[in-house]
Amino acid sequence: MVENKTNISKNDIVLTGDRPTGCLHLGHYIGSLQNRVILQNEINDKNRCFVFIADVQGLSDNFDTPEKIKKNVVEVCKDYISVGLDPSKSTIFIQSLIPELFELTVYYMNLITVSRLERCPTVKAELQTKSFSTSIPSGFLNYPVSQAADITAFKATAIPVGEDQNPVLEICNELVNRFNNTYKTDVLKECKPILSNVPRLVGIDGLAKASKSLGNAIMLSDSSEIIKQKVFSMYTDPNHINISDPGRVEGNVVFTYLDAFHDNKEEIEDLKAKYRKGGLGDVYLKNLLYKTLDGKLTPIRERRLSLKEDDIYSVLLDGSKIAREVAKKTLSEVREAIGIIY
Ligand code: TRP
Repeated sequence: MVENKTNISKNDIVLTGDRPTGCLHLGHYIGSLQNRVILQNEINDKNRCFVFIADVQGLSDNFDTPEKIKKNVVEVCKDYISVGLDPSKSTIFIQSLIPELFELTVYYMNLITVSRLERCPTVKAELQTKSFSTSIPSGFLNYPVSQAADITAFKATAIPVGEDQNPVLEICNELVNRFNNTYKTDVLKECKPILSNVPRLVGIDGLAKASKSLGNAIMLSDSSEIIKQKVFSMYTDPNHINISDPGRVEGNVVFTYLDAFHDNKEEIEDLKAKYRKGGLGDVYLKNLLYKTLDGKLTPIRERRLSLKEDDIYSVLLDGSKIAREVAKKTLSEVREAIGIIY
């Protein structure tokens, strides 16, 4: 397993979230979830560790399928608990239960231009995969602003995310500075991303980032059988036809995943050398990867199956109560800084 350096300082407040558009997959696990569990255990203070399910942000590109968003709030929370997020160490909550976030969003919208949002590489990349083409809903364009509200409401300083989120965090810091300068205050705090060593995991097709919507991801909840099927359909080296042929390691998805998930780096380096020389078959490697992944995912899957929906809702509602108190306090400081206290 890849080592993560969390680089967290004593005063850091950690916050991160996911849109509930589907169950989480290995890309989320290696890119962020694993880091969150390490951070949570290091910090061990639920007032400094926040994880939330961004249902309102999820609606920004799924407004016509709200039932999908609602269903996945529970699924994502199950994924959280099964990978080891612990409600006694992390405040786990639902975005839409914190209305203060949306009032903050409105104040921040005054401090950024439409063209700045249109230039955000994360928004641009996402727009390409959506069907809105030229008629962009303003809610979607605005999501980096709403994300800045999510972060600043908790005065979060350390944000474990995938590297695609960097431009959104830049916008957040621009808004923080714009707000503090405009209203002569220091209420809002800048944040930094916490990236994992594998911030972007390629899909099993080798073509794009692993994503549920592209169907090229291994989900945390996949059965052993599905994991096996997915591993055996992975893109390797199309020119490696006979076992004795020399094979390519670069761009070979099986090796990418072994690098990310296999604990014994030396063994993988030996296998790479053999594969390059010729004499090592894809079936051997795929079996090794299947066993590696199934070994990691079996305890997660079993944990998931033992979770009851009612208990998941209690975790989320309890966490949302705590989170709301924090957001309320920041909102009142923000109103005071603007000067609209009546
Ligand atoms: N944009 C994140 C995603 O696509 C979700 C998210 C919403 C988030 N608000 C956040 C992440 C605040 C970190 C901090 O999954």
